[in-house]
Amino acid sequence: MRLPAQVRIVDVGPRDGLQNEKQIISTEVKVELIARLGAAGLKTIEAASFVSPKWVPQMGDNSEVMARIERLPGVTYPVLTPNLKGFEAALAAGVTEVAVFGAASESFSQKNINCSIAESLQRFEPVMAAAKAAGVKVRGYVSCTLGCPYEGEIAPAAVADVAATLFDMGCYEISLGDTIGTGTPGKTQRMLEAVAARVAIDKLAGHYHDTYGQALANIYASLEMGVAVFDASVGGLGGCPYAAGASGNVATEDVVYLLNGLGLETGIDLNTLVDTAAWISAQLGREPGSKVARAVLAKRGACV
Ligand code: HMG
Ligand code: MG
Repeated sequence: MRLPAQVRIVDVGPRDGLQNEKQIISTEVKVELIARLGAAGLKTIEAASFVSPKWVPQMGDNSEVMARIERLPGVTYPVLTPNLKGFEAALAAGVTEVAVFGAASESFSQKNINCSIAESLQRFEPVMAAAKAAGVKVRGYVSCTLGCPYEGEIAPAAVADVAATLFDMGCYEISLGDTIGTGTPGKTQRMLEAVAARVAIDKLAGHYHDTYGQALANIYASLEMGVAVFDASVGGLGGCPYAAGASGNVATEDVVYLLNGLGLETGIDLNTLVDTAAWISAQLGREPGSKVARAVLAKRGACV
């Protein structure tokens, strides 16, 4: 099986990672996290979400974050926008890329964005039109592609329907979320087969949470099928506030280590990334969540 030659990693730590934190995280820390990820070589850094601050208070300083970050050349800083209100605020904050986010599960859609799947797709229409007019790229997310916290199993065909609709609406890439991290490699490949029959595999990205420790295996299974874009979160930060018990995304440093071992190019410096994982974890008062960060830090300590 030929794996893709190059892999793009989207670090979603500043958004997916921090959105679930109960403690107050200063704008300064968020801005520094984004700067450190840029210095580590990440080319796409999901910086914030323009959602209701009543729903997700942690993202309430979104405009300030976007005003204060230093935008490195060649790096994009997308944000989530659930509706036109969020898109307009994001545009005013100078974003060049946004993401709309839907789900393959009706119950999750209701809990997360307070509307049905069909209503969500209708809400995205004006966002797509406004983004096109403004020259802003739109990525589409589908949540619950490998299981739902409220409905359990989700049919691959349901994932494919939402993914295809988002793609046909104009999303340039569809990120497939294992929101609660219950997926396994076989299940991941079955889901990807169904989606790839409707949306070309090179337009798909894997967004796997690591709740059951399967995310790296799911990434490998996706690479085997030709997926070359993966979302990850430095230090394994995160979770979704509307998916109780879901842990963080797969850690970016774990993914980089895996890809380095396969000889796949990412352009990311593992040591700088591990420093970033250690730094943000210290800011949050905990140890880095990833095995690779802990191993590299322990090895460095042993060498001193
Ligand atoms: P709603 O209450 O149905 O919205 O929420 P509404 O249109 O009825 O408006 C109610 C109030 O919210 C109004 O304010 C609006 O102005 C305000 P009020 O008049 O009461 O003062 N409002 C907004 N304020 C700021 N920004 C906005 C906005 N829109 C309305 N964009 C809504 C609907 C979508 C806004 C809400 O449900 C929401 O914000 N949900 C976000 C939930 C969220 O952020 N979840 C986490 C991200 S998704 C995720 O983590 C999954 C992912 O990682 C993939 C995976 O892992 O599967 C992407
Ligand atoms: Mg997520």
